[in-house]
Amino acid sequence: MINKIRFAFVGACVVTVAALFVGLKGGGVATSAVAQSGADQSSQYPATGVRTGVYNDGQAALWDLNIWDHFHYFGPPERARGYKPQQPINFSHVIHVQQNKMECQYCHWSVAKASYAAIPEVETCMGCHGALVAGKSEQGKKDIEKLKEYYKNGQPIPWVKVHVMPDYLKFNHKRHVKAGVSCQECHGQIPEMEKVERVSSMKMGWCIDCHRQRGASIDCLVCHGHR
Ligand code: HEC
Ligand code: HEC
Ligand code: HEC
Ligand code: HEC
Ligand code: HEC
Repeated sequence: MINKIRFAFVGACVVTVAALFVGLKGGGVATSAVAQSGADQSSQYPATGVRTGVYNDGQAALWDLNIWDHFHYFGPPERARGYKPQQPINFSHVIHVQQNKMECQYCHWSVAKASYAAIPEVETCMGCHGALVAGKSEQGKKDIEKLKEYYKNGQPIPWVKVHVMPDYLKFNHKRHVKAGVSCQECHGQIPEMEKVERVSSMKMGWCIDCHRQRGASIDCLVCHGHR
């Protein structure tokens, strides 16, 4: 009897160690694959900085990975990493940015001029989709019909905001863009997202960490002062 238990115990240990070993190796392979694809991307898009890790489809700074993000009980889902809401029209950054090489600022025109990043008006879309571009896939054609419908009715498209922050926060795009912080450092690889996802926690520690490293202000009132 005692031998059987001993045998089972040693067996379990061997299996555990083997599993750990395989797991670690697997992880190692995955990391180098990520590094590889990161290197490939840098030729196409602006550099993403040295601290790129990975989260789901997008990329986020490795030091920003936080175990609490995986427990959505601690906050509303729209304030957590991985938030990826369904949009009224399936707008794809892959088609527009990666395949058709459009600049971010063609659509988000205010990003270097104001605190907020403008979401494009229906008119901007209609510049191409009015008569010229009808869409390729079945779903794409339907979505473009929907787009024209909004335009005809003079309605704005009710996009769902992906990066939701508390009201008391003072965030300024212009300051960051002028200081040379790339969109990717905060938003991940948008050009590769069929559907925009929040890849950074955007918690206070995340802001402060980068501010410390770049010598930007960490005065409370800079982020929490009156608008
Ligand atoms: C053809 C126009 C267009 C271009 C070009 C474009 N975007 Fe967008 N972007 C949109 C639209 C429309 C939305 C809103 C729908 C959505 O979230 O998918 C959006 C949403 C976003 C969001 C999420 C906003 C939120 O709700 O919090 C981010 C971040 C973003 N874009 C970043 C970028 C970056 C970075 C680039 C360049 C690499 C880029 N966009 C290029 C049209 C565009
Ligand atoms: C500079 C031109 C341009 C602008 C501006 C533009 N698009 Fe497009 N869009 C394209 C091209 C090119 C395609 C690829 C499909 C094609 O070739 O038929 C496309 C495809 C699409 C599709 C269909 C995808 C599919 O699967 O076929 C949708 C939906 C779409 N765009 C929505 C939008 C929305 C919403 C906006 C405004 C925020 C917008 N587009 C602005 C050029 C543009
Ligand atoms: C330092 C981090 C950071 C950088 C760099 C950054 N963003 Fe943002 N972005 C944010 C935060 C934080 C929000 C949410 C702001 C809010 O709700 O007050 C946001 C929101 C947005 C939105 C939604 C509209 C809005 O203003 O709330 C869009 C679109 C967007 N960003 C596009 C871009 C583009 C394009 C770039 C690059 C030119 C960029 N961002 C660079 C952090 C950043
Ligand atoms: C990846 C790096 C990075 C992240 C992340 C980041 N910032 Fe910044 N931020 C900077 C840099 C660099 C500057 C300095 C710009 C300058 O010197 O003009 C700055 C400047 C600012 C300023 C203006 C400071 C002043 O002196 O007026 C505000 C406000 C600000 N950030 C808020 C935020 C908030 C809020 C967040 C988080 C939601 C955030 N930042 C996340 C890099 C970052
Ligand atoms: C670089 C920007 C930045 C600076 C500087 C900053 N904060 Fe924050 N703070 C944030 C952000 C972003 C949040 C929102 C976090 C979230 O979404 O949960 C926040 C949230 C908070 C909250 C609310 C926390 C909660 O869970 O509701 C308090 C309190 C706070 N900050 C106090 C401070 C104090 C005190 C200082 C100065 C020592 C300070 N902050 C400096 C960005 C900043």
